[in-house]
Amino acid sequence: MPRIRVEPLGVELEAEQGETVMDAFANRGYFWPVGCARNGECTNCAMQVISGVARLSQMGRYERKNLMRQRGVRSVEDPRLRLACQARIEGDVIVYKRGVAPE
Ligand code: FES
Repeated sequence: MPRIRVEPLGVELEAEQGETVMDAFANRGYFWPVGCARNGECTNCAMQVISGVARLSQMGRYERKNLMRQRGVRSVEDPRLRLACQARIEGDVIVYKRGVAPE
C-alpha cells in the first residue's frame, strides 16, 4: 500500500491505491481544509507536493480549469500544486498543507 505523509503536521499513513489525498486523511480521522463539496471547485484543499508528484494521478481538465480560475493562469505551471480532493495516490508521496489536523 502506498504511504503518504503531510507536513508540517508530520503524519504518515497508508492509503488505498487510487484514493484521493484528502480521503486518505479524512477517512483516518484528520481534518483537511475544504470549501466545497470536495469536487474540485473551491481550491481550498490545494497542497504543495514535496516529493512523488509523478506518483499522483495526472491533473484533469476540471482541476486545471479551477486552479486557473481561482489562483491565476500561471498557477498550473507548477506541477507540484495539486488539489487534494482530486489527486489520487498511486505511490509514496509527501505533501505540504497547513491546517491538516486530527479531528
Ligand atoms: S475541497 Fe474544494 S477544491 Fe478540493
